[in-house]
Amino acid sequence: MTEPLVLGIESSCDETSVGIVRGEQLLANQIASSVELHARFGGVVPEVASRAHLEAIGPTLRRALADSGVDLGELDAIAVTAGPGLMGSLVVGLSAAKALAAYLNKPLYGLNHLIGHVAVDLLDHPDGEPARPIAQPCLALLVSGGHTQILRVDDITSKVTEIGTTIDDAAGEAYDKVARLLGMPYPGGPVIDKAAASGNARAIRFPRGLTAQHDLERHRFDFSFSGLKTSVARWVESCRLEGREVPLEDVCASFQEAVADVLTAKSVAAAQHFGIGHMIIGGGVAANSRLRSLLEERTAAAGIELRRPRPGLCTDNGAMIACLGAQVVKAGLAPSGLGIGADSGLPV
Ligand code: KG4
Ligand code: ZN
Repeated sequence: MTEPLVLGIESSCDETSVGIVRGEQLLANQIASSVELHARFGGVVPEVASRAHLEAIGPTLRRALADSGVDLGELDAIAVTAGPGLMGSLVVGLSAAKALAAYLNKPLYGLNHLIGHVAVDLLDHPDGEPARPIAQPCLALLVSGGHTQILRVDDITSKVTEIGTTIDDAAGEAYDKVARLLGMPYPGGPVIDKAAASGNARAIRFPRGLTAQHDLERHRFDFSFSGLKTSVARWVESCRLEGREVPLEDVCASFQEAVADVLTAKSVAAAQHFGIGHMIIGGGVAANSRLRSLLEERTAAAGIELRRPRPGLCTDNGAMIACLGAQVVKAGLAPSGLGIGADSGLPV
């Protein structure tokens, strides 16, 4: 069988993206981000994101086709994010995908965004070289502005289980909120990461959410970042009340250490608990320098193989959905049909 040629559309948050793959070969991955429109609000504004998707989807589709040299008529299938994500954003991508599938009379696959973040690792190999299969089972740590999850992947197309999740804020959301309270711009991750480089990560001991013994009983592999954010806010406030200057770099480094510590400790513990020797990390926060170094250190010490797709594939993109679509086509799964709806809380 020749490798399926699949176009994937992603519009679950603030990136409008269209990717095209042939099996595990990446042919195009065009991304239009509305992040700058949200910057002055300090976070993604759903209404603004939906409008931006509507404007960007046509041009992004055209650019992806031009970039890949693929004609619409050659496609074997259309894949699209059906959830989870912002409802108004999801429907823009789904509508475009349905129109394409109906016009071309090709199968439509509505897919789970989170699983796309794992599947994308298949695309990360040098041109012309075969893809490395995803070892199964493997554990995926997904950390972005919208999600913070530990997934167990037994079969990328049909058996993915959530092992842990955040009970409040996502890790990236915590970065964005802490940046805001420190007077730093949105998105907060990259600026905190940079400031932390010249700070002392041991200066302040911020709390590691859900690590107390009584929390571990119910939330062994879950996360909580809202207490951490409040703790940073209190610490900064106490500086102001005492008339002390806020040591910005130290606060950033100590906050970053708390996030990286709890993410790595719990994901490595989950891998060990389930006897899984492979881990994939994805999402925008996977770009964080401390998270990367600490995870490399702790996975190596535990004998776990760590895979981290390149940063451009870690953040939201259409290629990850196209790639998962190609896997689903190869597995012979039934298409979703044109009646599929969007599900903002779609479970894995
Ligand atoms: O995956 P992504 O591009 O979009 C979604 O949220 O789905 O992730 C964006 C998030 C933002 O919260 C941003 O602050 C965070 O990823 N981020 C980082 C870094 N770069 C981006 N967080 C920590 N360190 C970074 N270097
Ligand atoms: Zn995502």
